[in-house]
Amino acid sequence: MNKRKEMQLALQMVSGYGVEFSAWRMPGTDPAAYINTDSYVERGKIAEKGKFQMIFIADTPGLSNDLGLQSPMHPMDPMLALMAVARETKHIGLVATLSTTFNYPYNVARQFKALDVISHGRVGWNAVTTSHPAAAANFGSQIASRKERYAMAHESVQIVQALWGSWESDAWTLDVEGGTFADMDKIQPINLEGQHYASRGPLPIPPSEQGQPVIFQAGGGEEGLELAGRYASGVYANPYDIESAREHRKALRQSAARFGRNPDDIKMFTGFIFSLASTEEEALERRRQLMSFNPEEIPSRVSYLGSMVGLSLSVNTVDIDQPVATDMLKKAYANPMDPRSHRALQLLKQGISIRDVLARGVINYHPVVAGTPVQVADFLEEWFLAGACDGFSVVPDIAYDGVADFVDMVVPILQDRGLFHKEYEGNTLRENMGVPYQYGRLE
Ligand SMILES: Cc1cc2nc3c(=O)[nH]c(=O)nc-3n(C[C@H](O)[C@H](O)[C@H](O)COP(=O)(O)O)c2cc1C
Repeated sequence: MNKRKEMQLALQMVSGYGVEFSAWRMPGTDPAAYINTDSYVERGKIAEKGKFQMIFIADTPGLSNDLGLQSPMHPMDPMLALMAVARETKHIGLVATLSTTFNYPYNVARQFKALDVISHGRVGWNAVTTSHPAAAANFGSQIASRKERYAMAHESVQIVQALWGSWESDAWTLDVEGGTFADMDKIQPINLEGQHYASRGPLPIPPSEQGQPVIFQAGGGEEGLELAGRYASGVYANPYDIESAREHRKALRQSAARFGRNPDDIKMFTGFIFSLASTEEEALERRRQLMSFNPEEIPSRVSYLGSMVGLSLSVNTVDIDQPVATDMLKKAYANPMDPRSHRALQLLKQGISIRDVLARGVINYHPVVAGTPVQVADFLEEWFLAGACDGFSVVPDIAYDGVADFVDMVVPILQDRGLFHKEYEGNTLRENMGVPYQYGRLE
C-alpha cells in the first residue's frame, strides 16, 4: 500500500501538440503550436486549475525524429516555454530537463535559479545524462560510456547545488538607506573542482522562496538509481506494469535510504498516456484517426508489433483490419524482454484486429488508456494503491483538448475518491510535493 493517500500529478508537455506525433494535424489543434508560446501558457493554466503539482518538459538537445511526417519531440526551448508559463500562473511547479553532459554547471545553475526566483520557488531541474547520438553530435562529440556520463552528472549536480547555495539566506540586504545592496561577506565562492567540471562561483542570484530548485532525475541502470538516490526528490520513470513499477520504486527508496535520506522524500512519477472520450469506442476512434494521418508509418508499426510477439507480420501479407489468423497466433509468444508484449499478445488472442491492437497503444513508450474518464481514473487508482508510484507524469495524446478534458473529467473523480488533493498545500514546488527545504549542496 501507498502510505501517502494522495497521488501527485505532473503534466508532461511535449512540443505543444501532445504525445502522438501526428497530433499536429488533428482538427482543432493549432498546427503551429510548436512556435506559439500561448499553447504552453494555456495548457499550464488549465493544469493549474486542475491542481497539478507540476508541468514537466522532457528534452534532448538535438533533432531525433523525422519532421517530414512528425512534429518535434520537444519544445523549441523548455526554459523559455516555462518562463512564459511562470508569468501567467501562481502555484503550478515548472520542471525542465537539461543535460548534465552538454551544459556547464554554471549555466544550468544560473538558468534554473533565475527561473526559480522569478516564479517564487516553483522550479525543478530534471538532470539527465543524455544518451542520443544526435545530441552529442551537436556538441562535436559522441555519447560517452554510461560510467563517464554519470560521473559527470554527479559533479554537475554538486556544483549546481553549491552555486545555488552560494548566498547565505540573509545575504541580500537591499538596504536603500544604508546603501548596501547585499552583504558580500555572505556571498562566497564555492571553489569546486572535479575531473570534468569546475566552478569558482559565487552565482549572483539570491535564494528563492523554496531555497533552490528541486532536483528530478530520469535515467537508467544502477548509475541512474544512485544519482536519484543521492540527490533527486522526484524521478520520472517508465515502467510498463505494476510489478516492475513497484520494484523500481522500492529500489529508488532503498537508494535514498543508502545515502542517508528519508525514502519518503523521493517521489516516483510513472509515465502514462491517455486518450479520453465519453465511450471506449470513441476513444479508440480518436486514436485510429491519429494513426490515419501517418499511413506511411503503419508498415513499420505492424512489423514492430509482430516482433513483440515473435511473428513476422507485414502489411503485404496480412489484412490489418482483421485479427491475426488462429494458426499463426499459435506460434506467437510474448517477448520476455519487452513487458509490453504480454498485453499485445493478450489483445491479439482476443481476436481484435491488428489496427485496433495498435490503436490501443501497445507499442507506445508508456502504458496507454484509451477510454472513459472512469477507466482512466481506475487505472491511476489501481497503480497508486498498489504502491507502484507516488504519482504520474500524464501525457495527453492530443494536448489542445486532452489536458482540459483530463482536468474537467478525470481530476474530479480522483478528488471524489480521495486520491488527489483539492487545493495546493503551499506556494512552492517543495511544499506542494511535500519534500524538505534544501539550500546548497547535500554532502
Ligand atoms: C520517463 C523518462 C523520461 C526521460 N526523459 C529524458 C529526457 O527528457 N531527456 C533525456 O536526455 N533523457 C531522458 N530520459 C533518460 C534517457 O532515457 C536515458 O536514460 C538517459 O538519456 C541516459 O541513459 P542511461 O541512463 O540509460 O545511460 C528519460 C528516461 C525516462 C525513464
